[in-house]
Amino acid sequence: MATKAPGADPPETADLGELRSAAAGCRGCDLYRDATQTVFGEGSRAAEIMVVGEQPGDQEDRQGAPFVGPAGRLLDRALDEAGFDRRKIYVTNAVKHFKFKRDERGKRRIHKTPSKTEVVACRPWLHAELTAVRPELLIFLGATAAKALLGDDFRITRSRGERIDLAEYATTAVATVHPSAVLRAPDRDEAYQAFVADLVAARSTR
Ligand code: URA
Repeated sequence: MATKAPGADPPETADLGELRSAAAGCRGCDLYRDATQTVFGEGSRAAEIMVVGEQPGDQEDRQGAPFVGPAGRLLDRALDEAGFDRRKIYVTNAVKHFKFKRDERGKRRIHKTPSKTEVVACRPWLHAELTAVRPELLIFLGATAAKALLGDDFRITRSRGERIDLAEYATTAVATVHPSAVLRAPDRDEAYQAFVADLVAARSTR
């Protein structure tokens, strides 16, 4: 008998509440062991736009909501400047548990990039969110999010701000950098303006 590959196993429903409850108990990979909780996407099923980040950060892990920390504040500001209404956007992550390591003193939790296996294990949740929300526009923030659906060959540096047609989900996608990369950039103003320009390009695909 064929055995099922490990990974998330969402119920077949378009009800985001049901999906969220099921995701809370996900054991599709080992990240649930150290994280505080599953951080599921947030927003309305009627949202026309979906933003996909990498994984929850420290604040998101504690609060149980995506993009509520420093990267989220920068994202809110940039979306606003690009002419989007954040309240009408569904926001989620490719991986729904916080992956981290402890600093030398064992105090601070430092972000660790999720592995390909973890991204693949979590992908059924993203697929379920996309199937439920059916956004007209998908915005990927950073390489992990983009590669989760566009494949390993996708390069943000080469294709940021460009329109991509995603036949599988009948939607248009645009990838840009992750807001954390903007926060870390040597010239933060320049990086921020380029980020906003990508979001403006995404908005103009509609
Ligand atoms: N970074 C992400 O990719 N997602 C969040 O929710 C927060 C920080």
